[in-house]
Amino acid sequence: MWLIVLSGIIAFIPALIANSLAVICGGGTPMDLGKEIGGKRVLGDGKTWRGFIGGGSLGGVMGLLINQAGGFYSGYLLLPFALSFGSMFGDLLGSLIKRRMGWDRGANVPILDQYDFVIGAFLIALLIYRPWTMETYFKDHGLVTLIALLVIVPALHRGVNMIGYKMKLKKEPW
Ligand code: CTP
Ligand code: MG
Repeated sequence: MWLIVLSGIIAFIPALIANSLAVICGGGTPMDLGKEIGGKRVLGDGKTWRGFIGGGSLGGVMGLLINQAGGFYSGYLLLPFALSFGSMFGDLLGSLIKRRMGWDRGANVPILDQYDFVIGAFLIALLIYRPWTMETYFKDHGLVTLIALLVIVPALHRGVNMIGYKMKLKKEPW
């Protein structure tokens, strides 16, 4: 069983790394083009097209490399891209909510910051690759994989952001 859980976690790597890769790729035109609603930005300057497309693509490519090593996606080669772009999409939803609540770019919002991308990745994967996603994360041993992921994500998120901050890639250590 632990092998199944481990391969489910490895398969999720594109979703886990997309946001870190976005930090490296980011900059330039913000996705909301600077637009405001009710005096507050829609997404904010922290969500750029370069970050979204760069993080999503590189995350997917990393998934393809992972797939070379062990065939983690049942032959669906676009599946890692669904996970990485889903992750970037979830991150956008998170920022949308943060801005509506009046929290500025970079505000530390514990549960939301740590799980928005996980939810986005599952949503898009369920939409496009429902049977694989159900089996890998929501049924039988998949549920154990899901719980393991939910436990390691906050620690991973914290660690990676700390590194990004120390490397001066990120303005905040969270
Ligand atoms: N980034 C980007 N485009 C994206 C996502 C992230 O350019 N679609 C880059 C930005 O430089 C951003 C950094 O990655 O500042 C860190 O991402 P994140 O912590 O999600 O953004 P914050 O700046 O903290 O903004 P928010 O409060 O909206 O989460
Ligand atoms: Mg942030």
